[in-house]
Amino acid sequence: MINFKTEKNDLKPSDIWSVEPIETTQIETLENKEILDRLEFKAKFGEVAILPESKKIYLGLTFEAKQKSADPFYKANYYNLGAVLVRKISKLKLENLLIQDTEVLSSNTRKFFDFILGISQASWSLDTYLPIDQAKSKNINLYFDSSLEALITTEFLTNFEALNKGITLTRSLVDDIPEFINPQTLPKIVDTELGNNENVNLKHYNYAQIQELGMEGITFVGRASRYEPSMIHAIIKPQGDIKHKICLVGKGVTYDSGGLDIKTDGHMKTMKSDMAGSATMFGVIKTLSEIGLQNTEVHWISAWVENMVDGSSYKSDDILTTYSGQTVEIWNTDAEGRLTLADALTLATLQNPDYIVDAATLTGAAVVAVSEYYTAMMGNDKDLINQLEQTFILEGEKTVHTPLPEVLRSKVKGDLGELINISTLGRYAGHLTAGLFLSHFVDQKNFRNPKLKIENPKAFAWVHLDIAGSAMNKGMNDLEANGATGQSVRSLVNWILDMDKK
Ligand code: BES
Ligand code: ZN
Ligand code: ZN
Repeated sequence: MINFKTEKNDLKPSDIWSVEPIETTQIETLENKEILDRLEFKAKFGEVAILPESKKIYLGLTFEAKQKSADPFYKANYYNLGAVLVRKISKLKLENLLIQDTEVLSSNTRKFFDFILGISQASWSLDTYLPIDQAKSKNINLYFDSSLEALITTEFLTNFEALNKGITLTRSLVDDIPEFINPQTLPKIVDTELGNNENVNLKHYNYAQIQELGMEGITFVGRASRYEPSMIHAIIKPQGDIKHKICLVGKGVTYDSGGLDIKTDGHMKTMKSDMAGSATMFGVIKTLSEIGLQNTEVHWISAWVENMVDGSSYKSDDILTTYSGQTVEIWNTDAEGRLTLADALTLATLQNPDYIVDAATLTGAAVVAVSEYYTAMMGNDKDLINQLEQTFILEGEKTVHTPLPEVLRSKVKGDLGELINISTLGRYAGHLTAGLFLSHFVDQKNFRNPKLKIENPKAFAWVHLDIAGSAMNKGMNDLEANGATGQSVRSLVNWILDMDKK
C-alpha cells in the first residue's frame, strides 16, 4: 500500500529514491545519458532503468505502436505503468519514492491518478497466510514534485482512497479462501464494510426468506452446502433527486465444485474465485458509498451459494421454477451460475432501474473466446453497450463486446421446461448461449410468477460481463500480479461517477 507524504524536509536524500518519468527524446539532454545508453534504455513505455549510485529510477513513457492495429487497448495505460514500475523495482529495499514531474502526468489528472493507483495496487497482496518476513505487500511512502502535488486536492484524495479501498476489497475477497468467504460470512463482511455508511441501505435475505420468495434458482444450487445460501440487496441513496437508477448484479458462487457433475482434471482449483462477480460489485459499491452520489441511485444484488455435493444436491433431470416463474430443465449442475443469476436479475428488474449490469465468472467458453486478459461483454441495448465500451477503453480494462446471436436463442429452449441450463450446441459459443439464457430474466414479458404482480411488463437495458478469464490471473497475463485482478471495478465506478455528473 502507499502513503501520501507532503513533508520532504525530514528525509535525508539517501533515504529516498527518485522516479524520473521520461520520453525517448529527453534522453539526449540528461546528465546520465551515457549510463542510460550503456543500459540500452530507450524510455519505451514501461521500460525501467535503475541507477543505484544516484538512487534514480528512470521510467519510460514513450508508447510507440510496433504495428498498425485496430486494437483500442493497444495504447499507453497508466494504471499498468504504475504496476509495472512496482514490479520492476521489487528487489530494491526502498520505502520512499519521490515522483518527479513530467508534463504527461501533471497535465492530465486522470493519468496521474491511474498511475498512482497502479503503484498502490501492485504493492498490495493477500499476506494473511504468510509469515511476516515472506509478506509480498510493500509499504511505500510517496512524495511528489510540487507540480504533481498541486493535483492532489481533497477530491483527488477522497476518490483515490475510496477506489483503492474498493479494488483491494474485491481482490482480497477473491483471493481469500472459501473457508472464510462463504454465504454465511459474506453478509457479515457487508455489515462491516457498509453498515456504518449513512449513504447505504442494506437488506439481507436469509435462506428461509429466499425459499419463501420461491427463488429455486438459488435454493437448488446452494442446498447441498454446509453454509446456507444468503442474498444481499444494498442501495446507495443519492444526496439529491434521483435522475438515474442503476442495478448491479454479481454472481456469488463462493465455491464451484461443479455439484454432482463434479469438476475433474484440475478444473476445480481456483473455483474460490467464482464469487468474483459479487466481489466486483461489492468493490464498486464500497467505493461509491465513500465518495457519495448526487443524482444516481445504485443498487447491488448478489445471491451467495456454494455449489457442493451431498444427498440433497440438485440433479440433472430436475426442473426448477425460477423467481420469474420460468421453469428450467437442469442438464448440468456445473452450469449453476446462470440459475442463481436468473433469480437475482429478476429481483433487479423489480427495482425498475434504467440499466442493469451483471458481472459473473460464468463460462470457460468466455476464456476460450477472449483469453484470460479480456472480459466478454454482451447485452441487449446498443446505447448501454456503447457507454460501457467507451469507459472500458478509457480505463484500459480489456473488454470485448460480441452481439448475442438471436439465431442461437432456440438452443437454450427446453422441452419439458421452458429453458435448459446449458445449450444444445454443446461447448460452441458457450458464453453467448449463457448470455442468451440470462436475457430471459431481464425482460418481464417472459415472467409468469403471479406473486410479482407485474402490471406493465418492461424489457430492461442490460449488459452482462463474463469475467471468467479476467477476474483472476493464473500467470498468463504478465501485466498483472498472480491472483485476483480487480478488473472492471475502475470502469464501473467511473461510468457511474460520470453519469452522476449529468
Ligand atoms: N464457474 C464456472 C465457469 C468458469 C470456468 C469460471 C473457468 C472461471 C474459470 C461455471 O459455473 C461453469 O462451470 N461453467 C461451465 C458451463 C457448462 C457446464 C455449460 C463451463 O464453462 O464449462
Ligand atoms: Zn459451474
Ligand atoms: Zn460457476
